[in-house]
Amino acid sequence: DKGTYPFYMLKEIDEQPNVMRRLAQVYLSETGEPVISDKLLNSMKQADRIYIVGAGTSYHAGLVGKRLFESLTQTPTEVHVSSEFAYEQPILSKKPFFIFLSQSGETADSREVLVNVNAGGHESLTITNVQNSTLSREATYTLLLHAGPEIAVASTKAYTAQIALEAILAKALGEADNQIVAQRFDVRHQLGLVATGIQAIVDEKNKIEELAKSTFLDTPNAFYIGRGIDQNVSLEAALKLKEISYVQAEGFASGELKHGTIALIEKGTPVIGIITQEKTAGLTRSNLQETMARGAHILTIVSENLAKPGDDIVLPDVDELMTPLLSVVPTQLIAYYTSLNKGLDVDKPRNLAKSVTVE
Ligand code: F6R
Repeated sequence: DKGTYPFYMLKEIDEQPNVMRRLAQVYLSETGEPVISDKLLNSMKQADRIYIVGAGTSYHAGLVGKRLFESLTQTPTEVHVSSEFAYEQPILSKKPFFIFLSQSGETADSREVLVNVNAGGHESLTITNVQNSTLSREATYTLLLHAGPEIAVASTKAYTAQIALEAILAKALGEADNQIVAQRFDVRHQLGLVATGIQAIVDEKNKIEELAKSTFLDTPNAFYIGRGIDQNVSLEAALKLKEISYVQAEGFASGELKHGTIALIEKGTPVIGIITQEKTAGLTRSNLQETMARGAHILTIVSENLAKPGDDIVLPDVDELMTPLLSVVPTQLIAYYTSLNKGLDVDKPRNLAKSVTVE
């Protein structure tokens, strides 16, 4: 039931602070220690490499997961698009461990990979929002996202739930491996900051709606740019805008634009920079300037500690590993309001279905 909301998507965006708190309740003890089964952690500990597999938004959550696992566990992690992995399997490490990310647990492309993984005798974990879904039944282990039903075709709270659960799992695995960074990473405190931070962003909906109206309503195309995990979020931000508002959007590594794609920048082309990582903030700002010099209409989404006067959307500070949980939220709202103000059916975009059960 969407209550007083015009569309499920907005309700689901607004639910994200609660989803963060629920994940902390379900998967962390009172002292903030991860509650993850020893069996699963032991299997993961033995792995020499983690392979994350997913499609669409889940693939994008996996990209952020790579950064979490590599920072907190020192386990090399690869992320793959399921439909590609299924028919062009990379050379596997000696002891691979697979993580399937699937909100629905029914995606045919991902299942095709899992069937091969099982045939190869490898262990796997499915992280899903649907208990008893096909992918959760067929994997060795399963963890539930507890995001509550997601009705809108465009995924929002499932993406943030996937990242939050990856953070908890990476913390657990890193601690099981005596990694000091993992011991110091206070995931419970961080999820609390994230919940309050998302709340602060969604409380400023009106401002984001105005921005969406002035920048995205009449544009045929747009770019989101960033580096590292900001680039990962830019892919998700662009996907959201494309799928519900039909604006052709690209997420791009900001340093790579000048190697060709910058030719597409014209007077008024929106270019949105996502800036949450201290070591690359200055570089992304220069890349934004380069597009502005070619006429782009630039906007910034910036963490508070890196903000400068004139930035458009300022995000409350959290650990640099957790910033995707905040930076994605204004981009969900931009997509939502662009679709809404174009008079489109936000929850049911053309040509798409909630779960994709064909290859
Ligand atoms: C986009 C979206 C899709 C799904 C993809 C995989 O908003 O929701 O890109 O993420 O179809 O679906 P799941 O996660 O159910 O495997």
